[in-house]
Amino acid sequence: MFCVPHITCKMQHQKKMIRCLLFISLLIHSTLGKISAVAPPSQKWLTLNGNQPLVIARGGFSGLFPESSSFANQMAQSLSLQGTALFCNLQLTKDGIGICLSDIRLDNSTNMALVHPKGQKTYDVNGKQVHGWFALDYTIDQLFNNASLTQGILSRPSLFDLQSPISTIEDVTGIKPAQFWLNVQYDSFYNQHKHSPTSFVEKAMRLMVINYLSSPEIGFLKSMNGKVNKAKTKLIFQVFTADEIEPTTNQKYGSLLQDLASIKSFASGILVPKEYIWPVKANKYLGDAPTSLVSDAHKQGLEVYASGFANDLLGSYNYSYDPTNEYLQFVDNSEFSVDGVLTDFSPTASEAIGCFANNKNVSKPVKGKALIITKNGASGIYPGCTDLAYQQAVDDGADIIDCSVQMSKDGVAFCSDTADLIGDTTAMTTFISRSLTVPEIQSKAGVFSFDLTWSEIQTLKPQIASVYQDFQRNPAYKNAGKFTTLPEFLELAKAKAVSGVLINIQNAAYLASKKGLDIVGAVNTALSNATFDKQSTQQVLIQSDDTSVLSKFKNVPTYKRVLLIEEKIGDAPKQLVEEIKKYADAVAITRSSIIQINDFFTTAMTNVVAEFQKANISVYVYVLRNEYITLAFDYFSDPIMEIATFVDGVGVDGIITEYPGTASKYIRSPCTNTDKPQYNILPAQAGSLLSLVPPEVQPPAAAPLPPLEASDVVDPPLPPVAKDTAAATPDPATPTVAPSSAPANVTSVCLSLVSIVVLALFMGY
Ligand SMILES: *[C@@H]1O[C@H](CO)[C@@H](O)[C@H](O)[C@H]1NC(C)=O
Ligand SMILES: *[C@@H]1O[C@H](CO)[C@@H](O)[C@H](O)[C@H]1NC(C)=O
Ligand SMILES: *[C@@H]1O[C@H](CO)[C@@H](O)[C@H](O)[C@H]1NC(C)=O
Ligand SMILES: *[C@@H]1O[C@H](CO)[C@@H](O)[C@H](O)[C@H]1NC(C)=O
Ligand SMILES: *[C@@H]1O[C@H](CO)[C@@H](O)[C@H](O)[C@H]1NC(C)=O
Ligand SMILES: *[C@@H]1O[C@H](CO)[C@@H](O)[C@H](O)[C@H]1NC(C)=O
Ligand SMILES: *[C@@H]1O[C@H](CO)[C@@H](O)[C@H](O)[C@H]1NC(C)=O
Repeated sequence: MFCVPHITCKMQHQKKMIRCLLFISLLIHSTLGKISAVAPPSQKWLTLNGNQPLVIARGGFSGLFPESSSFANQMAQSLSLQGTALFCNLQLTKDGIGICLSDIRLDNSTNMALVHPKGQKTYDVNGKQVHGWFALDYTIDQLFNNASLTQGILSRPSLFDLQSPISTIEDVTGIKPAQFWLNVQYDSFYNQHKHSPTSFVEKAMRLMVINYLSSPEIGFLKSMNGKVNKAKTKLIFQVFTADEIEPTTNQKYGSLLQDLASIKSFASGILVPKEYIWPVKANKYLGDAPTSLVSDAHKQGLEVYASGFANDLLGSYNYSYDPTNEYLQFVDNSEFSVDGVLTDFSPTASEAIGCFANNKNVSKPVKGKALIITKNGASGIYPGCTDLAYQQAVDDGADIIDCSVQMSKDGVAFCSDTADLIGDTTAMTTFISRSLTVPEIQSKAGVFSFDLTWSEIQTLKPQIASVYQDFQRNPAYKNAGKFTTLPEFLELAKAKAVSGVLINIQNAAYLASKKGLDIVGAVNTALSNATFDKQSTQQVLIQSDDTSVLSKFKNVPTYKRVLLIEEKIGDAPKQLVEEIKKYADAVAITRSSIIQINDFFTTAMTNVVAEFQKANISVYVYVLRNEYITLAFDYFSDPIMEIATFVDGVGVDGIITEYPGTASKYIRSPCTNTDKPQYNILPAQAGSLLSLVPPEVQPPAAAPLPPLEASDVVDPPLPPVAKDTAAATPDPATPTVAPSSAPANVTSVCLSLVSIVVLALFMGY
């Protein structure tokens, strides 16, 4: 008997399936009218046959749902390019039924270890002793009745665990995928245990179409050679890392790959880990050039499929945490395109291939649907606010570059994220003795620009930011670039003919009353000296969290004033919006004031954007970053999805980002600017992914965000600039003087172990 009907089990899971389909239809309806048949790809690709590279979904959309679950397969099918192949890694049960699971151990991706604690076995799998629970020891009925799929990768959501039974290969082909890819990873193992994958596949091919049949075992591929219809089924040789041993020949995969001509005798293509094509060096950078593998294989008439793609793997620094960059490196370089990519995130591969590849020569709109405003320039790539970060931002398609103005003690206005220089410069090591606590500015101690002269600041180096320790940015440029004064920033903006500048002004009242520094005056002077007040070709945005600062710029009508609202708000009451209108033409608000997130799932969308826009106040959302750790699961670990959601789903007027290149890629893509895109990048619907999770395992609801309050909006008038502040701020010790003469609270800055180590290194030097 080949096929066992599992009616009861299916019924139990039908409710869940309905939720899944509902989710998909929610997504699709959100862009109703945009959905269209895929236009025949007219582009020319450097694949072997010139066709568009294939997207292969490993266990469906396994980046989000348990691998090979019905959720995962349905979602991959609905959210990927037409023609996408669903990939199933075959395992055989005791009674010879074929199921899809990538690991030979059930405990990697099911709850079998809990259900049957005594079921652990040890088997010799191609010469290695493997401990665990094996499909081989259970009948399909035992598995269906007891086992549920779980997420095998810990960085991915576990809320979908225990919702789907194991899938048989008929369950996968039953949803009618455009193409089906079956991988037979353990032919000799199953043969040793009296199962024959060869005869299983032969029988299966009578009942279903298998478009691709792959295996890492040459013996299996050779035995299938006379048995498959080559016009229907391609045989693909799966290659593992260079040092692993191929079971049939006992040779290393690395050396087998030296002889592509003999591979051609039993396979029409190879499936290789992506590092064979673009090796990643120990420092996590790519080299300058790819290997010749794809070109060599194509010369032999062999197709090349690359494996190992996932948005939530920390790949090479060259990709700047934008997973679409990685696909493009494989399908859109000047030398070749691989013939397909095996991925856990098929929607991301689809958008890269369908929307971003092969369009270097397509004319792109100058003005997109939303403004791209930088946060400290392209600070994802270079240290923020440096000349290099600004140049990169302009080259990457930013509309507006930004300068958060800080003042040195001697009155030089320059660009830096915050007045505290510890985060974005090397001040921590050089000026530790000058650190202070200034409660008006921040609660923790810092080294503040207004306590250092400009020449002291220039002895520092800029330092690249990072969101978390594991997510370092571009170490090759860790301290690259020069600090930029406000006049230099404005000169650069003019020279590069960028569409506009945003000048952010913080701490004006403190600087005026306590430090005798006139930041508002400095900005006004710099702007008018650079003639920004007498032109309207380049937009000037003045941003502040202080309405009194914004009032000071009212006299230049071409300046657009932006109120920065740092509080997370759930609502913007009408009378406050009217009040804000007196001071500002736009607001900059946080991501969570627009889309609320609980436990990495979006839960709801607020009305805040609509409330401001109704009053003709533009809304900019901040701050967007590429690192997947900053993204809700609803965005598929893909920064493009978050941008699509804010730009096309919510309709904000601008996005404030540390990676303007990623925003420009989406906003200027042909898919975003046509009615008939090759691939539809569907914005997330707040709350719809979480609606797939049964109520009993949903995270507890978070408290609603408070509404905007009057105290968030109206500030007291700016105090006059103090004349003589010398008495208030005695000249602090120079950095070379021993710390004993430093202020008493110096040590509070040394809280973290890292900083102590850094300090020790510096002192020892
Ligand atoms: C399952 O296998 C994958 C790939 O080998 C591994 O990354 C993951 O940690 C494993 N998970 C469990 C729960 O064993
Ligand atoms: C699983 O389900 C079957 C019924 O099909 C039952 O007989 C068996 O005891 C259960 N447990 C295990 C570990 O298979
Ligand atoms: C990757 O980045 C490094 C460092 O910037 C550079 O030298 C190298 O050429 C880059 N490789 C590619 C393929 O872009
Ligand atoms: C893009 O245009 C340039 C110049 O017109 C041409 O040389 C190049 O081949 C084109 N590239 C593609 C991918 O069409
Ligand atoms: C005014 O701009 C010129 C260049 O256009 C520059 O040389 C000069 O230093 C600027 N003056 C001030 C006060 O910023
Ligand atoms: C909205 O603002 C624009 C200019 O910023 C102006 O032309 C338009 O009349 C305003 N509309 C309303 C309803 O205030
Ligand atoms: C040091 O910090 C503590 C707590 O923050 C404060 O109470 C104390 O006055 C500070 N001492 C000086 C000399 O600033």
